[in-house]
Amino acid sequence: MKILVKVPATTANLGPGFDALGLALDLWNETEFIATQDYQISVSVSGEGEGKLPLNAENAIVEAALKIYDLVKKPCTGLRIHCVNRVPIGSGLGSSSAALLTGLLGGNALLGSPFNEEEILKLAIEIEGHPDNVAPAMLGGLVASIVYEERVISLKLPARANRSPMHVTVVLPDFDFPTKQARAILPKQVDRADAIYNISRAVLVTEALRTGDLDLLGKAMSDRLHQPYRLPLIPGAQAAMQAARQAGAAAVALSGAGPSLIAFSARDGAEIGAAMQRAFEQAGLSARIFRLGTSYEGAEVSIL
Ligand code: HSE
Repeated sequence: MKILVKVPATTANLGPGFDALGLALDLWNETEFIATQDYQISVSVSGEGEGKLPLNAENAIVEAALKIYDLVKKPCTGLRIHCVNRVPIGSGLGSSSAALLTGLLGGNALLGSPFNEEEILKLAIEIEGHPDNVAPAMLGGLVASIVYEERVISLKLPARANRSPMHVTVVLPDFDFPTKQARAILPKQVDRADAIYNISRAVLVTEALRTGDLDLLGKAMSDRLHQPYRLPLIPGAQAAMQAARQAGAAAVALSGAGPSLIAFSARDGAEIGAAMQRAFEQAGLSARIFRLGTSYEGAEVSIL
């Protein structure tokens, strides 16, 4: 039996929605799983992470798939996995969440789906520690999450029908900024004024993305809880944000914990991407440009 799992890239935080808001992007990892009887685990990777990601049991997709076998107490008799990766690793586009979800969904499908979608998402959130990448990767679209009585509730917010296209430009500098480090530098306590600043804006960012109101998005997409601490550590990031706005972006934010930046615009993002790339280059970093759309669809599992 062959299983194909497709999981999209995601951008978390969206400015003020730290650890709460996330959006699926139209950039996909596609992974094939074959159950074997040879008690071997083999992984091959083409595309992003090729030559860098582990190809044995230390691979994040394998670990997640084996977690499902453990949970249902079934032995794994062997796995052959092939990954076609388009989501850059360590970028702020949810590559580790995509790997986690891919493994959980692949293992689950190989075992005849002992867990439903909600249970897989719950498990992924528990393992990841915050919901803002895994939830939109699973559900698609714009997703807001809360913790309620020790349970995460993730809600996909319906997008307006016929909304005008929103162009998304992600620029990824060649800079190592692990999420663990990007979280460790944040203060444990926040000022009340900063909390109010973010709460009010997060509501309006959600509404602006839901309705496609780029003017409102531009006014609301700013943050005082994480970006002020993270941006100065990424060379050229503050200049790149400014350059994006000058080149016509309606709104720009750090994507997840970075180091990539994400810009939203009504028109095609070619000039915006080039302007951001130049700003990073002036700070001594090469940078890659991804011109994307958003995805209303989330993870998909097919039995081939
Ligand atoms: N909300 C998370 C953060 C996203 O900003 O640290 C990155 O995983």
